[in-house]
Amino acid sequence: MENRKAMVIGAGQMGAGIAQVLASASYNVVLYDLDTQALQRGINKIETSLKKAVQKEKIKEDEMNETLARIQDTTSLSNGDDADIVIEAIVENLEVKKEVFKKLDQIVKKEAILASNTSALSITELGAVTKRPEKVIGMHFMNPVPVMKLVEVIRGLSTSEETYQEIKRITESLGKVPVLVEDFPGFVSNRILMPMINEAIYTLYEGIASKEAIDEVMKLGMNHPMGPLQLADFIGLDTCLFIMEVLHEGFGDDKYRPCPLLKQYVKGGYLGYKVKRGFYEYE
Ligand code: 3HC
Repeated sequence: MENRKAMVIGAGQMGAGIAQVLASASYNVVLYDLDTQALQRGINKIETSLKKAVQKEKIKEDEMNETLARIQDTTSLSNGDDADIVIEAIVENLEVKKEVFKKLDQIVKKEAILASNTSALSITELGAVTKRPEKVIGMHFMNPVPVMKLVEVIRGLSTSEETYQEIKRITESLGKVPVLVEDFPGFVSNRILMPMINEAIYTLYEGIASKEAIDEVMKLGMNHPMGPLQLADFIGLDTCLFIMEVLHEGFGDDKYRPCPLLKQYVKGGYLGYKVKRGFYEYE
């Protein structure tokens, strides 16, 4: 996979993580963001993460420097026009994503695959705004990207077998495991994870137990690395609410109704770890 070029759209938590794993696997990476400050924060995150890996003697200093040198940050999409693969990891808003896919379709060479890291939105709808729907696919990484092995690969209605096979190869070249799923709301990961988190929030809302007790039950009783409320904070409560709304609207079933307490936290700006307060407070 050496000398292959990848463009990552969005330098947030997920985009930076994706750029890091691509560059670590020898891809030349163009990391794009509209916002120069967000871009700098993304690059800083990658540097910090790689420095930790050096301290833990997982990689050598030379490898860190080579990896960083393979990442070019940019605010111009045309710097990635010759990319072999583009992975979009911007805000979870279908209309905004559609605009980006339309632009990418015009700018990026026609053989390139356009992938989205969306957590719940329709790959089929994103493909439909391009002239290459057979080359549009979901590549759903898990947070923290450098650590988590799974990439949920989502096949839209028009995604070709060739595109899937290529993404499977790319995912494996990153040291990750691709799992193929079809394009329905929340795919598999968030269709199962988010109702569990929502139920944990209902359990808190109904006063059945304290937040610490709910998390302890799931950590010690089910061997989850984080309790569901801590995990919700880690993911972002706005993201959790957004995914529950996609499930609720997409399936029309009341079992996906977001808990009023989740809505209230989001309205109050308690968005979780990224703002240092959610169900818990963070230093
Ligand atoms: N970048 C790189 N490495 C990281 C990292 C990061 N952001 N965060 C943790 N790590 C590494 C550490 O360096 C450490 O490596 P080592 O074992 O080689 O020393 C290892 O991960 C374990 O980290 P810690 O010892 O600091 O802490 P924990 O043992 O508590 O693990 C965790 C942290 C891996 C985040 C663990 O708590 C976990 O697995 N939590 C659940 C994560 C999860 O469920 N993610 C999926 C969220 S859902 C999602 O992403 C989908 C979306 O659509 C919502």
